[in-house]
Amino acid sequence: LIASTLRNLLVIPDFRSFCSHLDQIFEECTDITSGNVASYIPELSKVSPNFWGMSVCTVDGQRYSKGDSTEPFTLQSCSKPLTYGLALQQLGSEKVHQFVGQEPSGEVFNALILDKHDMPHNPMINPGAIIMCGLLKSLVYENHAIDDILAEIMKTVKNLAANEYVGFSNEVYESEKATGFRNCAIAYLMMEKKCFPPSITVDDVLTLYYKSCSILGNCETLSVIAATLANGGVCPLTNKMVLRQDVVQNMLSLMQSCGMYDYSGHFAFQIGLPAKSGVSGGMMLVVPSVMGIGLWSPPLDRLGNSCRCLYFCERLLDFYCMHPY
Ligand code: DON
Repeated sequence: LIASTLRNLLVIPDFRSFCSHLDQIFEECTDITSGNVASYIPELSKVSPNFWGMSVCTVDGQRYSKGDSTEPFTLQSCSKPLTYGLALQQLGSEKVHQFVGQEPSGEVFNALILDKHDMPHNPMINPGAIIMCGLLKSLVYENHAIDDILAEIMKTVKNLAANEYVGFSNEVYESEKATGFRNCAIAYLMMEKKCFPPSITVDDVLTLYYKSCSILGNCETLSVIAATLANGGVCPLTNKMVLRQDVVQNMLSLMQSCGMYDYSGHFAFQIGLPAKSGVSGGMMLVVPSVMGIGLWSPPLDRLGNSCRCLYFCERLLDFYCMHPY
C-alpha cells in the first residue's frame, strides 16, 4: 500500500475525495425511513431500525467506515454466496451444478418451487443454499459433525474477511430453527424430488443451513469479503488466495443475476454490479478489480432488500459511473 501510494498507483488515487462523497451519500441515506425490520424470524425483529453502517475496502487495502460499521448482525443470505463458493472450491463447478441451476427463479427467496429439472433455480435463494449445505455435509465433509462443518464454513469466511469480526448467534439460530416451517417444506419437497446427494437428513441439512445464516459479521467484515471477491479470491489485506479465480467468477456471475432476490433484474439493470443482500439488512456490493462495500440497515422493502442500502447504491452510481455497460 505504501509503495503504491508513493508511485501514485492506487486503484482509487484520490481516496480522500472519494470518502467525502461517501460521507455525503451516507448522510443522505439517513433521510430514508421506509421499510420494516424482518419479523418472520422473531429474534431479528428485536434489532433497532436505526442502525446504519458502511465500510469500504479497496483491492489494494484502502479502507473507510462510517456509522455502525462494527456492530454485529447475522449474515443471513449474505452467507449464501459463501457456502456456494466453498462447495465450488471443494467439488468444482460441474459437480455442484448437477444439483443446482444458474437461473433467476423470478419468485421470492423462500418460494416452494424448483426448476424444470426439479433442481433449485440457483444457490442464492433458500432451496439452492439448503442444497449447498447438503453437498457440504454429504460430499465434502462426510462423517463430520454439523458443528465441525460450520467451523469449516466460518474458517473460510474468516479467511475471506482477513480476520475481521466473525461470530455466531445462537439466539438467531434457535429462533430460525423454531419457526422455519417454510424451509422445512422446501427441504421435504427437495427430498421427495431426490435433489440431495445420498445420506442426507432434513434435520442435518436444515441445522447446517440455519447455522450458516446465523454467522455474525459487521460492515467491515462484509467489505473485506467483498474486496476479496473483487480481487479474484485473493484477500487484499493478507495477500492469501482464499478461493480460486474460477470459483469467484461463478459466485459473482450468480450474485449479479440472482443476488438481490426478486429485484435482481432491476438491480443488474440499474447498478450492473454483483451484490448480495440478507434479511438482517446487510448487503455486500462488489466492484470488480476496484473494491468491496459492506452496508447494513435493518429496515427492508417489500422484496426483502434493505431500503437504505439500495438507495446508497443508487446514489453511489450517480456519483461514479461504475455500471460496466
Ligand atoms: O431462511 C431464511 O429465511 C433466512 N435464514 C435467510 C433469508 C434471507 O436472508 C434471504 N434469502 N435469500
